[in-house]
Amino acid sequence: MSHESGRYEFSNKPADYAALARELESLLAGERDLIANAANATSLIYHALPDLNWCGVYLLRGGELIVGPFQGKPACVHIALGKGVCGTAAAEQRTVVVPDVHAFPGHIACDAASRSEIVIPLMARSARTEGDYLLGVLDLDSPKLARFDEDDRRGLEALAAVFVSSLGA
Ligand code: SME
Repeated sequence: MSHESGRYEFSNKPADYAALARELESLLAGERDLIANAANATSLIYHALPDLNWCGVYLLRGGELIVGPFQGKPACVHIALGKGVCGTAAAEQRTVVVPDVHAFPGHIACDAASRSEIVIPLMARSARTEGDYLLGVLDLDSPKLARFDEDDRRGLEALAAVFVSSLGA
């Protein structure tokens, strides 16, 4: 399979995120494997967005987060719920935007280059209970201060939703 990725300037973030969401949908179409789709989704995002030094998922396994497919430098493997930015987003099941990681109490430094971060919970819907449950989180790091704004939050939440629905979850 060859995938020719679109080029995005992100001068119009809502439009570029919408185009990237369509690209992600077609990239993942026909495949439901969690690891395969997490690998391709994080690669697409990492290469499409400017000013990132890490993009990956942490998956909920046995009551803690374990690193999954990512792009960037090797990262810490285990994160307890409630710890760091990832554990906070997972425990509170909400997106956490951190403009300055040095000002976030309990931030877990994996790559010293990271200055700002956004973590989006990956929520799936259980067909059995019809309730939402947490699959893990999508984590993006940037070497730039305050890299992620409201447009990024909305755009990345939409990409996370495309990824989760690709799993049939
Ligand atoms: N900074 C994260 C840890 C994961 S790395 O950034 C890849 C945190 O505080 O949860």
